[in-house]
Amino acid sequence: MASSTSTKSPRTLGDTRRWASPGSRSAELFTRAQSVMPGGNTRTTVYMAPYPPYAASGEGCWVTDVDGDRRLDCLNNYTALIHGHAHPEIVEAATRRLAQGSSFPLPTPEEIELAAVLCERLPSAERVRFTNSGSEAVMMAVKGARAFTGRPRIAKFEGAYHGSYDYVEVSLGSTPETWGPLAAPASTEYSRGTPPAVLEDVVVLPFNHTEHAVARIEREARHLAAVVVDPVPNRVGLMPARREFLRALREVTDRHGIVLIFDEVISFRVGYHGAQGAFDVLPDMTTLGKIIGGGFPVGAVTGRADVMAVFDPRGGQPRAPHGGTFNANPVTMAAGLAAMRLLTPAAYARFDDLGAKVRSSLEACFKRAGVRGAVTGLGSLFRLHTTDRELIDYRSTRTTPEETERLQRIVRRLLEHGVLISVTGLGCLSTPMGESELEGFVETFAAVLEMERGASPE
Ligand SMILES: Cc1ncc(COP(=O)(O)O)c(C=O)c1O
Repeated sequence: MASSTSTKSPRTLGDTRRWASPGSRSAELFTRAQSVMPGGNTRTTVYMAPYPPYAASGEGCWVTDVDGDRRLDCLNNYTALIHGHAHPEIVEAATRRLAQGSSFPLPTPEEIELAAVLCERLPSAERVRFTNSGSEAVMMAVKGARAFTGRPRIAKFEGAYHGSYDYVEVSLGSTPETWGPLAAPASTEYSRGTPPAVLEDVVVLPFNHTEHAVARIEREARHLAAVVVDPVPNRVGLMPARREFLRALREVTDRHGIVLIFDEVISFRVGYHGAQGAFDVLPDMTTLGKIIGGGFPVGAVTGRADVMAVFDPRGGQPRAPHGGTFNANPVTMAAGLAAMRLLTPAAYARFDDLGAKVRSSLEACFKRAGVRGAVTGLGSLFRLHTTDRELIDYRSTRTTPEETERLQRIVRRLLEHGVLISVTGLGCLSTPMGESELEGFVETFAAVLEMERGASPE
């Protein structure tokens, strides 16, 4: 990634603006989409104004859109595709299983294999249940914790995203006008019409503020079934949790018989043993998703055997019944197994190395260009910020209107010049990426920052 220190004018990965012209295939598709979907959209996260490029195909770390432009995929379906697109071993495993039938009203051997891999890798996992998404996994973990403790409430962190279950959406979008005191953040609705009872049953905590969080848990302990925490929370800014903060959460939840849930839907990609292995703090339950399905819809709840026993159907109705027509569907299981087997300890070591280099190269680009910015992340994850404030929690990472505009401009210019990252600045690596692709990314980023300064023409 030497390009970030080169004195030559940086070059982008190419001009990829065909989708944006009025007569493009993407424009045509979006017009049609608007007549059958609200706003032409069926996944809020992938909307971009005025309309997105539509994907045609993907291969390795590259995605080609329907207008024929190819971009380096630094988003990988929001961190799910850890081996990029159409990895031959995953394609082979999924298609072989597909030809034998895609779902049954019976269990299949593949679910046991993938559950065994997860138990082997995640230090706190003794039992596993599969779902079809991370959202469902979080919902089932919360319901499981309620069933285990007999208590109604949960605690979660301000700004943290855990999917679309009502309870964990609370305070996802708090603003300075609504968020209240740091020591006791207000429970705010995210989706209009959230029942007041939901807000009452969610205690909101400030991320990485150990004393405030512990004090609030202590005060609410007798009502709390669970504390839900993502150790590397993207929407909180992708700053890793402080280890002593996670240790304090472990201690206080142990003391009060509260189930500690780690949401590792994204953070499982930071190490062979997940974030819990990297931080050496073990939760009672863990939710997973994304990478464990090899690119297919998936989620999982894992945990200690005695806690997970709430789902055990032997001997009558379980304390927490859990159905799902497509739970553990064998195509996902086969693809997930192939993906996990490709993720060796050496693959993680390579991610750690490349991820650290990418983050420091991007930071260097900000400095060299004289543009205010910072880069957070861990392992294969990174996130761009357009501020030079100290980033510690949700409140410090929440962008001002000017910072939001600048971030959107940077992301848009990356999209126009061969690089795909999220509209919020999230990005990640995949195993097919090598030094040369990442150099191309960093050089494009440097060129985009020059455009931002107005130093060079688009
Ligand atoms: C930390 C976290 N938890 C849960 C979810 C929900 O997962 P899904 O989109 O599969 O429902 C996400 C999705 O991005 C996530 O980042």
